[in-house]
Amino acid sequence: MAEKLWQGRFEQPTNRMVEEYTASIHFDSRLYRYDIQGSIAHCRMLADCGIISHDEASLIVQGLGEILREIERGELKLEASQEDIHMAVEHRLMQKIGEVGGKLHTARSRNDQIALDMRLYMRDVIQHCRKLLVDVQESILVLVKQHLGVVMPGFTHLQHAQPVLLSHHLMAYYEMFGRDDERLAECHRRTNVMPLGSAALAGTTFPIDMERTARYLNFPKVIRNSIDAVSDRDFLIEFCAAAALVMAHVSRLAEELILWSSTEFGYVTMSDAFCTGSSIMPQKKNPDIPELMRGKTGRVYGNLMALLTLVKGLPLAYNRDLQEDKEAVFDTVDTVVQTLSVLSKLLPELRFDRERMKEMAAQGFTLATDLADYLVSRGVPFRKAHHVIGQLVQYCLQKDKDLRDCTVEELKQFHKAFDVDVFLLLDVATAVDQRLSQGGTATSRVEEAVQRAEAELAAR
Ligand code: ARG
Repeated sequence: MAEKLWQGRFEQPTNRMVEEYTASIHFDSRLYRYDIQGSIAHCRMLADCGIISHDEASLIVQGLGEILREIERGELKLEASQEDIHMAVEHRLMQKIGEVGGKLHTARSRNDQIALDMRLYMRDVIQHCRKLLVDVQESILVLVKQHLGVVMPGFTHLQHAQPVLLSHHLMAYYEMFGRDDERLAECHRRTNVMPLGSAALAGTTFPIDMERTARYLNFPKVIRNSIDAVSDRDFLIEFCAAAALVMAHVSRLAEELILWSSTEFGYVTMSDAFCTGSSIMPQKKNPDIPELMRGKTGRVYGNLMALLTLVKGLPLAYNRDLQEDKEAVFDTVDTVVQTLSVLSKLLPELRFDRERMKEMAAQGFTLATDLADYLVSRGVPFRKAHHVIGQLVQYCLQKDKDLRDCTVEELKQFHKAFDVDVFLLLDVATAVDQRLSQGGTATSRVEEAVQRAEAELAAR
């Protein structure tokens, strides 16, 4: 068993079970690159400020570089006895360069060290997630442009409501993922603050220069309060909240793909490469991938709740409870990264049944609002028109016919303002293109939205 770096005040060695219980190395080892990067910056700053000599700093920096390569090549075994990634790296450094390695931890604590590591890690993660969101948005745009003329029933309450363009429906998801990206950008701004030098909680007696450390690590700002620096996990919670919304959006899309690929809907088929079969029913092709996307949303919500609960009763400043933040964050990162990666590949492979969608678009009296609007254009107050068309729908239901099957004489029985030109309106494509209001489903509006989206993505 390796001697602990903090062993000085202890008379007995750590209990084996306690070692296992407190260790975080099996998950925080993923931070090794950031831990070493942070240590190198810290060491340079210490030398710049005359706290250690430049020769000592060179030895330490060189040793850290070697440790990085050892870990990358899988040569360095990271063990529970070393507790966490910080101690493992420092321990190895001492093995390599001896006592002088012990100077690295001057003016630093693991409390500000882990705060720094997580911020460095999250900066990269957030940018990666933003890139994946753009990939998804681009995949959506591919579909949108391929299907510009496709009309489908728009739903409210999962009941046929009014005809819309499939592209308009898909662009709604484009917007959602755009807001997700904005949230992540905001989260990045608050993550991008440098905490190292706050030490255990109170700052340090050494004449350090945190601005310099920040510059080495490319942080635009230094954190303002040392107690906050070691206690704050807002940036992780914000990320998990943003990730929860990403997954909410993915899950809604996934749910629609599952519904739409059912026999009852028959709107879409997913490519074989993105479906799975049944072990007993030979005919089956199941939408397991969107089902898992929907399912994995639960764990991401759970992680957010875990983090919120973790911090709610914690007195300032650092408490070991905070070590529990990592698995929730890492699991969230892995889930979101995997999900978005699969989604952007799955989307362009979707095959929509245009005929089926168009046929369904007209069913369920989806043009009733257009008829009411027609009467309004002839001076009938909307409430009155609504009532008249309601009665007309009732009549059609009784006669088992569609609005289009009514003669103008029949229509006139419901309101004298009806005329033959009304039949021009009884067409789903016309209904779509009449909805020209800002953000509406008219083809020209959707084309506008596509252009805006393309410009937006090109600028990113
Ligand atoms: N592994 C710890 C964590 O994740 C690092 C900080 C430990 N600090 C301490 N005083 N025990 O939070």
